[in-house]
Amino acid sequence: MQICRTVAELRAARARFGALGFAPTMGYLHEGHLGLARRAKAECGASLVSIFVNPTQFSAGEDLERYPRDETRDLALLAEEKTDLVFLPHVSDIYPEGFSSTVDPGPLAHVLEGASRPGHFVGVATVVAKLLNMAQPTKAYFGQKDAQQCLVIRRVARDLDLPVEIVIQPTARDGDGLALSSRNAYLSKAERAAAPVLFRALQAVQARVVEGERDADRLRQMMQAMIMAEPLAELDYVSLADAETLSELARLDRPALASVAVRFGATRLIDNLVLQPSAA
Ligand code: PAJ
Repeated sequence: MQICRTVAELRAARARFGALGFAPTMGYLHEGHLGLARRAKAECGASLVSIFVNPTQFSAGEDLERYPRDETRDLALLAEEKTDLVFLPHVSDIYPEGFSSTVDPGPLAHVLEGASRPGHFVGVATVVAKLLNMAQPTKAYFGQKDAQQCLVIRRVARDLDLPVEIVIQPTARDGDGLALSSRNAYLSKAERAAAPVLFRALQAVQARVVEGERDADRLRQMMQAMIMAEPLAELDYVSLADAETLSELARLDRPALASVAVRFGATRLIDNLVLQPSAA
């Protein structure tokens, strides 16, 4: 496993490989991230994982400073996955003096996470476009856990003709349904015990859709009520939106993204499920 710390090192190292699978991350790796690294290696023969806590996708007052980091542990986990290349750049390598160009993904970036976190997806789109240009991977791997991020990145790759195949990996969960996230490390014991309410609310909606419910407001209210019944949870949003455009639905007459964002103290968690009403 080769560790690259500068863009020049990454470009030189990447040139030694043909097909390359790439999983961008912000580190503090868990099984969700490792699933991406494993699949990249299995499908492309060679894998690259980047670890970069991207400051431009954090709003003022968010958790940039306290975002969990453990480089030694991350590298050990990636070595076990037989990762070929790890890119660990410094902020000044990605955003050197004078940096000013950004990628704006447009309307998809303004709803849901984008409404709660203004500027977030410009930060994500810009850093992902840069990383893809630096690494020039054959395929790049992203997790369905961040469903809107997946849509934004697909949009950017298409709009900017980035020569890469975007692959989406299903959400990895703990035994009680909680989606794995680096931010779960922030949760107190009581908050961790309460956090599976996100997935339970999503599953409850899925079950109602299977039973035939198609009224989106009733389904949103149900998710909202389940989450608000949890005393430690503070609801940010619930959404039932078109799975491609993310516009809110009145009726579930097409594939829908059910998504939730909830705060437990200072920790903000998100989760989602894709619902297929036609198949229900
Ligand atoms: P990060 O939150 O570290 O996540 C890196 C990748 O792992 C993303 O594609 C994310 O969707 C995926 N992932 C996280 N938790 C997952 C889970 N439980 N199951 C499956 N996949 C999971 O997302 C980012 O970093 C950043 O925005 C990044 C794309 C690296 C740009 O800075």
